[in-house]
Amino acid sequence: MDESSLISHEAYGRDIVGVLISRHRIAARLDELAKCITETYPEGELTIVAALTGAMIFLSDLIRRLPLRLRLDVVRVSSYPHRATASREPSVPIASAGDLPGRHVLVVDDILDTGKTLELIRGLVLSAGAASARTCVLMSKRRDDLPARVAADFVGFDIEDQFVVGYGLDYGDLYRNLPDICLLRELAGGNGR
Ligand code: XMP
Repeated sequence: MDESSLISHEAYGRDIVGVLISRHRIAARLDELAKCITETYPEGELTIVAALTGAMIFLSDLIRRLPLRLRLDVVRVSSYPHRATASREPSVPIASAGDLPGRHVLVVDDILDTGKTLELIRGLVLSAGAASARTCVLMSKRRDDLPARVAADFVGFDIEDQFVVGYGLDYGDLYRNLPDICLLRELAGGNGR
């Protein structure tokens, strides 16, 4: 656990067990990820399709590091109903296929768990006629019980199978505004599965 940064949000102080990934580590890793992504698209054009709401802070920090001609589209995915900590079958209640035919697309999400969300969006993107569809997540959870799970093309951090909040990720719609990725006291030591 990374204790180097202090929780700056008094309102949440007692709910948080600790910082798993500090804002400083996130920023440093985003620099590296952005470099890899930029090098993967030498043609200099990219369309990002991002899953809201969890990826919004990651997305906004990532795209400002990408010196590309970039188009942005979002889909709203629901896989964690209120206060659930194990993902359900994802659905896309709001989908905007945008202008995808012939485009190179990068699907961005906050975290890879079972992989169903990324696969769902990737499928939508390809069926909308994209020329290519790669995937990028800030975190990928270790799931030894799912050996056939899809891997993302770009991964910020590999983490243990535990429920995390902050930097856009929520529990019961709270904690998205924490600047670090944190572990909740209520859920420490388990993933609720
Ligand atoms: P799947 O199973 O489809 O799940 O790969 C990915 C989606 O589930 C959400 N998710 C989390 N959200 N803390 C969160 O706040 C977590 O630890 C977590 N794990 C999965 C997330 O919305 C992601 O898009």
